[in-house]
Amino acid sequence: MISAADLRTLSDTIMARLPGATTAAAVDALEAEALGPDAPVTAARRSLRDAPDAVRRELGQAVNEVTGRISVAARERRLALAAAERDTRLDEEWLDMSLPGRAPARGKAHLVSTVWDEVVDIFVALGYTVAAGPEVETAYYNFDALNTPPTHPSRLESDTLYVAHGDDPEGVLLRTHTSPVQARYMETHRPPVYMVVPGRVYRRDAIDATHTPVFHQLEGLAVDDAITFGDLKGTLEHFARTFFGSRRRVRFLPHFFPFTEPSAELHVDCFACEGSGCRVCRESGWIELLGCGMVDPNVFVAVGYDPAVVSGFAFGVGIDRLAMIRYGVPELRMFFDPDLRILRQFR
Ligand code: PHE
Repeated sequence: MISAADLRTLSDTIMARLPGATTAAAVDALEAEALGPDAPVTAARRSLRDAPDAVRRELGQAVNEVTGRISVAARERRLALAAAERDTRLDEEWLDMSLPGRAPARGKAHLVSTVWDEVVDIFVALGYTVAAGPEVETAYYNFDALNTPPTHPSRLESDTLYVAHGDDPEGVLLRTHTSPVQARYMETHRPPVYMVVPGRVYRRDAIDATHTPVFHQLEGLAVDDAITFGDLKGTLEHFARTFFGSRRRVRFLPHFFPFTEPSAELHVDCFACEGSGCRVCRESGWIELLGCGMVDPNVFVAVGYDPAVVSGFAFGVGIDRLAMIRYGVPELRMFFDPDLRILRQFR
């Protein structure tokens, strides 16, 4: 006959062994050692019916107590084991499904913009002001104020893009150079004038390697009480050397522009071959850079300056052309091509 004390001893033993059961099956087996069909607790419960009253009460209490204690402890142990197993699997069985994130594409300045800024900076460093004017211009500022006679070939519809506006079919146009801003600026500013105008200009050109209907120029104008051709030479030589390298030499060839007199074409010796002749300079050793000259007295009169009191020089340089020469870009139209493979080559 099993006593209440035997049951409690058994219960203590089972409770002590429970932490050593590390699988659900081991916990089941341990629980069955006390509570299984033929195990002591079950046998004791069966014996209660025939037990004397004095024993039944104490033994019944022990059976209930031990059954509750062991089954609760076994259930807690199974839950703890299941939780530990889940944690282990979460730690071990994971896949990295994250992607490396897409970097946003970063833009940068177009090569023409970079050269534009660089050229402007060269003149700003000399104390020049940056001015601007309209791209849709009147024939007066584009031609007349610049001493360009009504018969001048540049006015031909084959060269100039006219805008249908007003009565005169040739009264409004897309400016063919940045020079009209010279006249606009002088009309509204007293001398001394030291200014540059970077901007878009338009010509009725068929597209080829060196022509596009729109391109970029930088106009320069210096007017003071005693500006000479020597000032023009020194200023433009400084520009050529700052842009193409300090060893560069320049030369001036006679030229003609209606708004300057005398006029010249500035050449710089070839930075690629040091002047000995190569593909960049088409074997001549020299590169044509820009047009320039001393401001024509008629231009001063048109804007209300007194040519007896002031003198000045002006120049106009192609910004795209500068970029093509220095970076060896073979076709002007590449600057107007949205193909990023072209644009990305220039940092
Ligand atoms: N406007 C001239 C051109 O477009 C360049 C120039 C500007 C020449 C100023 C002389 C003085 O070709």
